[in-house]
Order: sequence, then structure tokens, then C-alpha cells
Amino acid sequence: MSTESQTTNGRSRPKLLQNWISMFGLLIVVGALFSFFLLWLTELFMGTGNPYVGILAYVVSPAFMMLGFALMLYGVWWERRRIRRTHRLRPLIIDLTQARHRQRLIIAAVCTVGFMLLSAIGSYQTFHLTESVEFCGKVCHSVMEPEMTTYEQGPHARVACVECHIGPGATWFVKSKLSGAYQVYATLFEKYPRPVPTPIKNLRPAQDTCEQCHWPAAFVGDVVKTVHSYLTDENSTEYAVKLELKVGGADPNRGPVGGIHWHMNVANKVEYYAADEQRQEIPWVRVTHSDGSVTVYKTEDFEGEVDESKLRVMDCMDCHNRPAHNFLSPNKAVNNAIALGRLDRSLPSIKEKAMTVLCEEYETKEEALARIEEVFKEEYADQPAEKVAQAIAEVQAIYRKNFFPGMKADWRAYPNNIGHKEWPGCFRCHDDLHQSEDGEKVLELSRCDTCHIILAQGSGEELEKLDSKGQPFKHPGDEYEMGWLCSDCHSGGI
Ligand code: HEC
Ligand code: HEC
Ligand code: HEC
Ligand code: HEC
Ligand code: HEC
Ligand code: HEC
Repeated sequence: MSTESQTTNGRSRPKLLQNWISMFGLLIVVGALFSFFLLWLTELFMGTGNPYVGILAYVVSPAFMMLGFALMLYGVWWERRRIRRTHRLRPLIIDLTQARHRQRLIIAAVCTVGFMLLSAIGSYQTFHLTESVEFCGKVCHSVMEPEMTTYEQGPHARVACVECHIGPGATWFVKSKLSGAYQVYATLFEKYPRPVPTPIKNLRPAQDTCEQCHWPAAFVGDVVKTVHSYLTDENSTEYAVKLELKVGGADPNRGPVGGIHWHMNVANKVEYYAADEQRQEIPWVRVTHSDGSVTVYKTEDFEGEVDESKLRVMDCMDCHNRPAHNFLSPNKAVNNAIALGRLDRSLPSIKEKAMTVLCEEYETKEEALARIEEVFKEEYADQPAEKVAQAIAEVQAIYRKNFFPGMKADWRAYPNNIGHKEWPGCFRCHDDLHQSEDGEKVLELSRCDTCHIILAQGSGEELEKLDSKGQPFKHPGDEYEMGWLCSDCHSGGI
């Protein structure tokens, strides 16, 4: 290839772009540009369902385009240095009176503007892509499968991951991209922990995430909720509780301050110290009331002073810690399936059998699904085949939605802090053991009606006899004694 050419005025001038490195760079740029347009058209006509097309179009091809440009420039620099040794380079003079120069300048300007426009669109699309649910949930498929699957079934299935995990603001955006880059690396090299640990240390406080949509001052008042359960007897007898939950509110301008949402950091501030990583053991709690008075509650065994830097201010996520990724326990999942009519109670002891097979530990999903089929076919050999097939399909569906052996993610790894039946939840503090320093005030467990009244309980007709004053809890069987934590016995498997 010649590096010199004749110009009109006869003097020789080297062409800096004409060297192997720059040519190679140009080839890459053209190739990347071509594949970008192809991918872009694919996305335009085939929809945005596939995140990989987006990644190739807006991350990989622009990266190659940049690489190509860099190579071209490097080639020019290298060539210039080479020629300098043999020639004296004429200084670059732009003479606008010459039509040729004007033409070239216009071409250069158009190219620059075009390139800048393309990169602007490109980076905007890249931004959109990395913020999308597809990118967060599907690209790192095996790692995020548990969170993605549970998310898709929850009340926030239409809320993008970034709304809760990143929230608004430029600094958090940058922080998230930095930690995101590490996560991509961790995924590629399988350096992530199983299960993904919670609570997430750098999750932002609820004011910046949940409260962007949920108004903390809202007055909810009473919420009536019927929880359907079934016993492990032959008929899987129903045992339901109709609760009136005193959710209340925390803003005096909206309604009386009190009830469950009293904690919400609007007028009162609740801080606590947790002895374990998962915040399941809470020996020390401090309340700053709206009038400025302070009460400290602690358990008897807690000694010494707390480290102020380790305190956490209670917010929505201390109770609603599974708003998007609720891993149901076998007991809860089977209860729901029977209540919805998806599991047939005429199959003898279906509650017990389904729950038992789900509680076993499996190495892989395939092993679990095969085992469910095997157990049911054996146990229900004398039952109509169609009914059994439906039961197998339903229990397998429960497994697929709530159990992820590859990531060791299921109800055992992720406690749910709403309520108190299968995990300590509210009873982490309200357990009769937390007393104020003068011993006058106690966070009570035994006064069940602090939080809810039981309007009706049992099954069939009993559920229709509503008692607006509330009735004492009648635990099925006679195992339960007042004062026990429910989670001492109920661990998800009963
Ligand atoms: C409604 C808010 C919300 C949305 C939407 C949401 N998350 Fe979460 N996510 C949470 C909360 C709250 C936690 C638990 C935090 C804690 O306990 O510290 C969590 C935890 C996680 C964890 C840690 C493991 C675990 O299960 O606790 C991962 C991973 C995760 N989310 C990924 C995602 C992905 C991917 C999406 C989108 C597909 C998503 N999240 C959407 C609120 C949300
Ligand atoms: C982008 C908006 C948005 C964000 C952010 C958000 N939510 Fe929600 N949330 C909603 C919407 C919308 C619903 C109602 C869904 C429906 O009724 O179908 C909802 C419903 C709920 C419910 C009622 C669930 C139920 O079962 O009925 C709770 C509790 C809740 N959100 C808590 C949270 C918490 C905690 C966070 C923060 C981790 C959060 N939300 C963040 C929009 C949001
Ligand atoms: C002390 C624990 C606790 C805290 C803190 C808390 N909640 Fe709740 N919240 C509950 C309970 C319990 C319910 C009753 C419904 C249930 O059991 O699912 C509820 C119900 C709700 C509902 C559903 C209301 C309805 O109409 O059904 C929403 C939405 C909600 N909370 C949002 C929030 C938000 C947002 C915050 C933070 C600003 C918050 N909660 C803080 C315990 C709490
Ligand atoms: C971190 C400890 C902690 C946890 C967890 C906790 N609470 Fe509380 N709760 C408190 C404290 C402290 C008080 C205030 C006692 C006082 O008045 O000094 C309180 C008060 C209450 C009150 C009475 C409010 C009023 O009307 O004065 C209700 C109702 C309540 N909690 C419900 C719940 C429910 C339901 C849960 C679980 C979803 C829960 N709490 C979880 C610490 C906690
Ligand atoms: C600190 C508040 C609080 C106290 C005290 C409390 N509960 Fe609850 N309880 C809750 C909440 C919140 C739920 C709702 C959980 C949900 O949304 O499913 C609940 C749910 C229940 C349920 C339905 C559980 C299920 O999933 O089957 C029963 C039964 C119940 N409580 C009984 C009691 C009894 C009995 C006591 C007294 C020994 C008591 N509770 C004390 C807050 C409380
Ligand atoms: C001493 C152990 C023990 C304690 C403590 C206990 N339970 Fe139970 N509970 C049982 C047993 C055993 C059964 C029967 C299981 C069966 O037949 O399916 C049961 C059954 C139930 C059922 C119906 C079956 C189901 O789906 O779980 C509910 C609801 C229930 N208990 C709620 C509670 C609540 C709420 C508390 C705390 C206030 C509590 N239990 C405390 C042992 C206990």
C-alpha cells in the first residue's frame, strides 16, 4: 500500500489513515455498525422480549465500534511517527477559500455530528437496557431465577427491579452500576454465594424506594383477612381464621395514630439492634415518641451498651421484607392450593402427603419433580388416574415456583417478617420478654388483640358466625399453650 499520494499542486503528502492498523480499525467499525443496524432492526420488528439482542446491540457492538475507532487513531499516530523519521510533515492548513477544503470540512462535521448522535442514542438505549427487568432478572438467569420467579407472582410484578433496588438519584445510579459491574463479573466466574444473602446491606431506606409510590401517611385502618389452613388428617379438614388486622396509620392528620402502622417513622421513631445478620434476634429496641420521650426495651439477658453505629431505624422493609420475592413454605403453599381448589381434598391425606414430599431436600429440580410423581403414583395407586395426574402437576408447579435447589433458595433461606406463625416476625420484639428499663412497659405477645381480633375461626358454618368483639384463639388440637412462640413448632413443615 502506498503511504504517499500526489496532491493537485504536485507536492507529495502522506495519507495517515492508510496503514494496516487503521485499516483494521476501520474494518471493525464498519462491521460493528453493520451488526448494530441488523440487531436494531431485529429488535424493532421482533419486539424487545429478548434481552440478549439488546445487550449485543447496545453494549457489545458500540464497544467494538469504540475499539475500532481507537485502533484507527492509534494507527494514525503510529504512522505519523514513522513518517516523521523520513519526511518533514507539512503543517495542517485549512483554507476555506478552497472548495476542496470546504467540502472536506463539511463531510468531517457531518460525520462527527452523526457519530455523536448515534452514541447519544446508543448510550440512552444502553441505560434503558441495564435498567430493564429483562436485564436484571433474565440475563444472569440461573443466579436471579429464584427472585425473578417469585417476583413475577407477587403484587409488584409490574414494578421494575430498579424501583426498589436502586431508586432515583445520580449517585445511587453510579453506585449501582459499579456494584452491577462486579455482579456481572461474579456471575461470569461463578463467584456468587448461594443463597444470595439477605438482608441486602446497601439497600436504600424505604423513604427512597417504597415511599416513592406508597404514601407513608396513608391511613389504612382495619383490614379483614381470612387465612385458610388444613390439618394433616385423612380428610385434610379445613381450619380457617378470619382476622381483623388493626393496620391503622401513623399520621395524626389522616386518622387516629395507632395500630400496626404506628411504627412507620412518621411521628415515632423505632430503632433496634439485631444480634444476627438476618435480623431475626432483636434483644434491644428504642422508641422516640412524637413528644420527644424515649423508651428503651430490652430482654433480660441483654447486657452492656449497644453500639450506636449498629442500630437500624425501622422502616417498611423490617415487616414487609418480602414484598416482591415471597418464597412460600410447603405448609403455606399447600394450604393455598387446597383453598383455591387446585388440590383435591378427596385424595386421602393430600395435605400431609404434599407437604411431606415438598419438605424433603433435593439436589436438583429434576430430582424433586421426579420424586413428587413417583410418591403420588405409589400412594394413590387406587385413585382415579386423572385426579392423581392433576395433583402431581399442581405439587410440581408449587415446587417450580418456590424452590430453587441450584441457588439453595427457598423458605428456609428467606424468612418473612409479616405475622408470626412460621418465623418470629412481629414476635421478634412483641414476645413478653422485652421490658422497658423501669420494668413498667412490656412488648406483649399474650395480648393478641393489640394487633388483631379474631372475628371467626374453624370451618364451614363456624366461619359465618362473626363476632365483632373478637374471640380467643382456638388452636386446633391441644398442643398449643399460651406463651409459646408459634414458630417454636411451626417451621413451614407443619
Ligand atoms: C417491591 C420492591 C422490589 C422489587 C420490584 C424487586 N425487589 Fe428484589 N428485593 C426487595 C426486597 C425488600 C428484598 C429483601 C431485602 C432485604 O431483606 O434486605 C429484595 C431482595 C432481592 C435479592 C436478594 C435475595 C433475596 O431473595 O432476598 C435479589 C437477588 C433481588 N431482590 C433481585 C431482584 C430482581 C432481579 C428484581 C426484578 C426482577 C427485583 N429484585 C425486584 C424488593 C424488591
Ligand atoms: C413503583 C411503585 C412501587 C414501589 C417502588 C413499591 N410498590 Fe408496593 N405496590 C405498588 C402497587 C402499584 C401495588 C398494588 C398492586 C395491586 O394492588 O395490584 C403495591 C402493593 C403493595 C402492598 C400490598 C400487597 C398486597 O398483597 O396487596 C405492599 C405491602 C407493598 N406494596 C409494599 C411495598 C414495599 C415494602 C415496597 C418497598 C420495598 C414497595 N411496596 C415498593 C407499587 C409500588
Ligand atoms: C410493624 C410492621 C409494619 C411496618 C413497619 C409497615 N407495615 Fe405495612 N402492613 C403491616 C401489616 C401487618 C399489614 C396487614 C396486611 C398483611 O398482613 O399482609 C400491612 C399492610 C400494608 C399494606 C396493604 C394495605 C391494604 O390496604 O391492604 C400496604 C400497602 C402497606 N402495608 C405498606 C407499607 C409501607 C409503604 C410501609 C412503610 C412506609 C409499611 N407498610 C410499614 C405491617 C407493617
Ligand atoms: C423492632 C421491634 C419491633 C418489631 C419487629 C415489631 N414491633 Fe410493634 N412495636 C414495637 C415497639 C417498640 C412498640 C411501641 C411500644 C410503646 O408504645 O412504647 C410497638 C407497638 C406496636 C403496636 C401498638 C401501637 C399503638 O397503637 O400504640 C402494634 C399494634 C404493633 N406494634 C404491631 C406490630 C406488628 C403487627 C408487628 C409485625 C408485623 C410488629 N409490631 C413488629 C416494636 C416492634
Ligand atoms: C404484634 C402484633 C401481633 C400480636 C401480639 C399477635 N399477632 Fe397474630 N398476627 C399478626 C399479624 C400481623 C398477622 C397476619 C399475618 C398475615 O398477614 O398473614 C397475624 C396472624 C395470626 C394468625 C393467622 C396465622 C396464619 O397464617 O395461619 C393467627 C391464628 C394469629 N395471628 C393468632 C395470634 C394469637 C393467638 C396471638 C396471641 C397469643 C397473636 N396472634 C398475637 C400480628 C400479631
Ligand atoms: C407446641 C407446638 C405448637 C405451637 C406453639 C403452636 N402450634 Fe399451631 N399447630 C401445632 C400442631 C401440631 C398442629 C397440627 C398440625 C396438623 O394437624 O396439621 C398445628 C396446627 C395449626 C394450624 C392449622 C394447620 C396449619 O395449616 O398450620 C394453625 C393455623 C396453627 N396451628 C396456628 C398456630 C399459631 C397462630 C400459633 C401461635 C399463636 C401456633 N399455632 C402455635 C403445633 C403448635
